[in-house]
Amino acid sequence: MTRIILSDDDIRSIRGLLNEIISQYRSAEESEFLCNMSTYAQELPRKLRCDINRFRLAEDSAVLLVSGYPIDEERLGPTPACLRDAQTLSDEIEEEILFTLVASLLGDVIGWSSQHCGRIIHDVFPVKAHSAQQIGTGSEQLIWWHTEDAFHDSRGDYVGLMCLRNPDGVATTVCPIDCVPLTEQQAQVLSQPLFIIRPDESHQRKNAAGAGLADGQTDSRFARVEEMSRNPKKVPILSGDLKAPYIRIDPYFMQPAVEPEARQAMEELTRSIDEKIQELVLAQGDICFIDNFRAVHGRKPFKARYDNKDRWLKRINITRDLRKSRGERSSALSRIIT
Ligand SMILES: [Fe+2]
Repeated sequence: MTRIILSDDDIRSIRGLLNEIISQYRSAEESEFLCNMSTYAQELPRKLRCDINRFRLAEDSAVLLVSGYPIDEERLGPTPACLRDAQTLSDEIEEEILFTLVASLLGDVIGWSSQHCGRIIHDVFPVKAHSAQQIGTGSEQLIWWHTEDAFHDSRGDYVGLMCLRNPDGVATTVCPIDCVPLTEQQAQVLSQPLFIIRPDESHQRKNAAGAGLADGQTDSRFARVEEMSRNPKKVPILSGDLKAPYIRIDPYFMQPAVEPEARQAMEELTRSIDEKIQELVLAQGDICFIDNFRAVHGRKPFKARYDNKDRWLKRINITRDLRKSRGERSSALSRIIT
């Protein structure tokens, strides 16, 4: 893991930049800010920019942790109890602006019409009605390790998490693919398009309930995902240089491959990742980026409090190539994949 600890000078400099930006925008999701974000990010401290650029290019680490940004617990409101719709302004603008600026050093942020009401910055906290589900807003179920949005070709290159609160030290789980022993034969089989990955529950219509969407309004938002559930195409699990492969996998939403050799290779890979999975406990103010092509991640189960002080993360997806999803976005400037 690459670890960056912000110095007092860094924090002073970042605060000056954030104050200037906050005086001009009402939201980190404002289209004008999204357009200017990568320009503002060039004013982040140079050492931070260099370290993140190294992480992006060298691929010698699959997890990056930026620590030390202080969160004012007094100013931070209660942990939300239900999902916000796309129009609701967030009170955590300072944290969201910082998070998106740092994220934009890795690429461009994206969101999904089928997830979190089309918001780009997701709030991850326990929702009572989701407690037993296999999604970020659940709590009682282990979230099986996975590639974020593995089912979709336009999935992000990185998933970012910013911790606003984690009072019980609930662990995120992570496993860089580099930690997993693979024979040449296994890698060859896993790089063939023999595997089906269905959309995960976070993209399903039922989880938009309570998000301020009227009945029927959701149809077009979920049409593509529902079609991908009905008619999934076969994809490879590994790609790129098979000596340092990229991975795409979400076993909870996959079925065994038809070919015995492929089935066995996936079982062995799954077993190896289970053995190598590590725990990462994010602390208040931590900003973590997981290389979504080089590591899988999940979350340990926990007992939610529902007391306004529950675990609360911000989550974001980042792509290195916006053009990859151009046919699924309404305009070149839109960041929402439909
Ligand atoms: Fe995830």
